[in-house]
Amino acid sequence: MIVGVPMESFPGERRVALVPVVVPILVKAGFQVLVEAGAGSRAGYPDTEYAEKGAKVAASRPELFQSADILVQVLSFGSNDAAGKEDLALFRPHQTVIGFHRPFGSREANQQLASSRVTAFSVELMPRITRAQSMDALSSMATICGYKAVLLAADRLPRMFPMLTTAAGTITPARVFIIGAGVAGLQAISTARRLGAVASAYDLRPAAKEQVQSLGGRFIELPIEARDAEDRRGYAKQQDESFFQRQRELLGRVVAESDVVITAAVVPGKKPPVLVTREMVERMSPGSVIVDLAAERGGNCELTQAGQRISDHGVTIIGYINVASTVPYHASQMYARNLAAFLLHLGKEGTPNLDLDDEITRETLLTRGGEVVNARVREFFSMPALISQSK
Ligand SMILES: NC(=O)c1ccc[n+]([C@@H]2O[C@H](COP(=O)([O-])OP(=O)(O)OC[C@H]3O[C@@H](n4cnc5c(N)ncnc54)[C@H](O)[C@@H]3O)[C@@H](O)[C@H]2O)c1
Repeated sequence: MIVGVPMESFPGERRVALVPVVVPILVKAGFQVLVEAGAGSRAGYPDTEYAEKGAKVAASRPELFQSADILVQVLSFGSNDAAGKEDLALFRPHQTVIGFHRPFGSREANQQLASSRVTAFSVELMPRITRAQSMDALSSMATICGYKAVLLAADRLPRMFPMLTTAAGTITPARVFIIGAGVAGLQAISTARRLGAVASAYDLRPAAKEQVQSLGGRFIELPIEARDAEDRRGYAKQQDESFFQRQRELLGRVVAESDVVITAAVVPGKKPPVLVTREMVERMSPGSVIVDLAAERGGNCELTQAGQRISDHGVTIIGYINVASTVPYHASQMYARNLAAFLLHLGKEGTPNLDLDDEITRETLLTRGGEVVNARVREFFSMPALISQSK
């Protein structure tokens, strides 16, 4: 089985799906690794390092797509809406494609992927179970985003983060407030604390309280309770607009008192709730910074512009997308570890054997044999269940 690593084609993307250090692990398990020339260079991994670890280098993209049995990508067709379409023509029937496919993004894109007759696995669909933790690419990328969000804020804030007692007086610590204490939010708390800020956080899932406190953050409790806050996968459940309205009213004061607000409140497959309104921004002190990690899907702040950094009433609002790509060395390293674990899971002898009784394999499988086969995705897009797939 040849695992092919193409160069990422989304504009500005710097990550690569596999890094040299995982090559021997895959080779030992019976895979061969073929890397498109230059694929890792923007992440800090030159071709020579792959070759030293036992990979072969393909001179061109068509050659790579032609030779690989399994293609591993970061932003694959579906999540790469700029250049992903060009890959459709290169995919070969029954080839396996593993990557971010944004399975809840577009029914049409899923259908197009299926029509290319590839066996596609979507890393976003990885079940949040202990057994799959080493393969959880969403958590890896969220970790990077949470870390980088704090650095982006610190860079724009006209204040320092730590408390300092100096001969020139005392400097008070920055107040960082995080809305949405999932993987990214929790990493933001840790990073803000390491820089010396006072960090607090809010999440509608009651389970988040202990996690926030264990990282030295203050958990902000609001006198409202979410209806069925958490689904069986541990994700937040969608709430109605009156709930969000009440959240906004109660969050206003905390936001106004914060120097930095980092928002990372999302519900899978849904538009993120607007939790920071224009009026709330206007009540913040000039110089304050908002980093909206939900920007790509619409944002948690009413004023966020996806991909942009803007200033409104003296408040900087950062809505950058694809933030994980700005830390490409470690983002690639973490993602590669996740993929290597997943490849070993699929077929230890280098042969992907599709055991659909296995939860990890079944839940991540998006398309096969010309059809969108994932039960969760079919249900999301109100497609009839497939008899053969309905386990
Ligand atoms: N293998 C595992 O066991 C495993 C792995 C990763 C994550 N998890 C858990 O899964 C959960 C989701 O993780 P994630 O970071 O991917 O989540 P996510 O990216 O889907 O959401 C981010 C956070 O936003 C919160 N949120 C959504 N709507 C909100 C609102 N209106 N107000 C406030 N907060 C809101 C969510 O509760 C979540 O904590 C977490 O509990 C995490 O600890 C478990």
